[in-house]
Amino acid sequence: MKCKITNTPLEPFMSFGKMPIANGFIDEKNFSKEFFFNMEVGFNEELSLFQLNDHPKPEEMFNKDYPFFTGSSEYMKNHFKNYANFTKKYLKTNSKIIEIGSNDGTFLKNFLDAENKILGIEPSKSVADVAIKNNIPTLNNFFNTSNIKTLNEFLGNTDLICASNVICHVPDLNNLIESVDLLLSKEGTFIFEEPYLGSMFEKISYDQIYDEHIFMFSASSVSKIFQRYNFHLIDSIPQVTHGGSMRYVLKRKKNESGKDLKKIFDYEKNKKLNKLDSCINFKKNCEISKEKIVEKIKFFKENGKSICGYAATSKSTTILNYCKIGTNYIDYICDTTKEKIGKFSPGMHIPIKDMNFFHNNMRDCVYLFAWNHKDEIFNKEKSFKGEWFSHVEL
Ligand code: TYD
Repeated sequence: MKCKITNTPLEPFMSFGKMPIANGFIDEKNFSKEFFFNMEVGFNEELSLFQLNDHPKPEEMFNKDYPFFTGSSEYMKNHFKNYANFTKKYLKTNSKIIEIGSNDGTFLKNFLDAENKILGIEPSKSVADVAIKNNIPTLNNFFNTSNIKTLNEFLGNTDLICASNVICHVPDLNNLIESVDLLLSKEGTFIFEEPYLGSMFEKISYDQIYDEHIFMFSASSVSKIFQRYNFHLIDSIPQVTHGGSMRYVLKRKKNESGKDLKKIFDYEKNKKLNKLDSCINFKKNCEISKEKIVEKIKFFKENGKSICGYAATSKSTTILNYCKIGTNYIDYICDTTKEKIGKFSPGMHIPIKDMNFFHNNMRDCVYLFAWNHKDEIFNKEKSFKGEWFSHVEL
């Protein structure tokens, strides 16, 4: 295996087995045509980079049927408002702002009132259409050097480029950084946030690994990767979103490092996030986690308890397929996304139901797949008196 951005070897250390597209919610008539790939992960010590060995083509994942809408969580809407406020210190009047993977425009919406020129670039038509309907200028295309070359007024002139939960989706990181380099002004800032390797290791939240998440970054890996293109990591700020994320701030000049950056690097060194050893340890932890959750579910069933799932997240696809949990254990998964309701979960084919169904057909135990939204969900579902559980601590 080669590391996709250096050509140096990638040490494979774990396979999760055959996986479907994490967001490939499917109709019954298409079960026999379902696409699977072998989901293996590896580590490149030179760049401290954790990544998937192989992954489906981006067009298989990000297309007209992509069913993830950022605005589906109230908490996330608020998070993006705060994120937009955070970026203000990097803006001037009449700034040019681009968001890569702008989804339904939840983040860019926060810049609509000011005198900024904004542009979202989003490959999935389903979500881009929602943004356009809400008057967010959006280019429905992949972010790469060939698709941005017509954006004359942004080339070399963009003050701020942002992304959230997107950079880890882009297989050709070299081309992504070249595109950022072409667009960003000399003094410009590139800010992105992604699920954090340190949090995934700590929580054993291996469900962060799925087809879309090609890379799992840390401050060490981001710093090393971007240095190759003369970009410097000047700040790294932990976020609670997605069960533990990191916001990275990069500039062409190194002169203004954030005060906590050293602390983050020290933490990563201490936790050996730059060593294959930590991955081997993570692998053992995943295997133990799988055993424990399967035992727990079997215990519920042996004691006559009924089970359903809550929130048909992308993450749930990894759990269900790795642990082989299907309708033998879980009767249905409820979700708020109309594009998922009436379909079946990828691979294990558990029916997806709406929230009314959940409230009218409550089960004794509920597997919370959106454990990262637990406060918001527990607050809404106070009427549920059974047992919530998950593979991570709730
Ligand atoms: P998220 O953890 O952001 O998903 P992913 O693992 O795909 O990144 O959760 C989003 C999904 O959870 C989406 O399918 C909608 C669903 N959801 C609910 O059904 N109810 C809720 O209250 C919340 C917050 C999410």
